[in-house]
Amino acid sequence: MALTIYLSLFFLFLYLLGLSIRRVLFLRDKARMEQESRGGGRVIARVEEMGPGSVKKFWLICQKNRVDAFLINYQGTFHAYVNRCRHMTTPLDFVRYQFFTENGSHLVCLTHGALYEPASGLCLEGPCKGLSLYPLPVKVDQGEVLVGCPSGDISFLAD
Ligand code: FES
Repeated sequence: MALTIYLSLFFLFLYLLGLSIRRVLFLRDKARMEQESRGGGRVIARVEEMGPGSVKKFWLICQKNRVDAFLINYQGTFHAYVNRCRHMTTPLDFVRYQFFTENGSHLVCLTHGALYEPASGLCLEGPCKGLSLYPLPVKVDQGEVLVGCPSGDISFLAD
């Protein structure tokens, strides 16, 4: 009986410790995002460091959510999307740092091979056909690429 109580208290302690650590990391990331933001977006990259075909992963703090995302330069234009496949909630690159198909014509989800149109985020082939990646607003300012949080209802981020 005593052992059960001690174990319960131990796991409760671990749970609360995990929550506290998560909260501290969230506040740290939120402060960093505020430092690196201006004009409604976080500075993600300098324009010259992202040539056509390049990709950069990043995160944003949007309301109460940490959003993992990626920025691409597709044929000279920047686009940013939440890094979440529309088939399941897995990141497109899963384990490997790969977003484009070998020929660079499409974005690909490495889990089941869905293909997305880079300029619109529309899923053209695969189990999510007809759905779109969640886009993020992108702005180029003073030689830097800024990405902001999605506007409106972002409850989908909590899924
Ligand atoms: S999770 Fe992306 S295609 Fe299935």
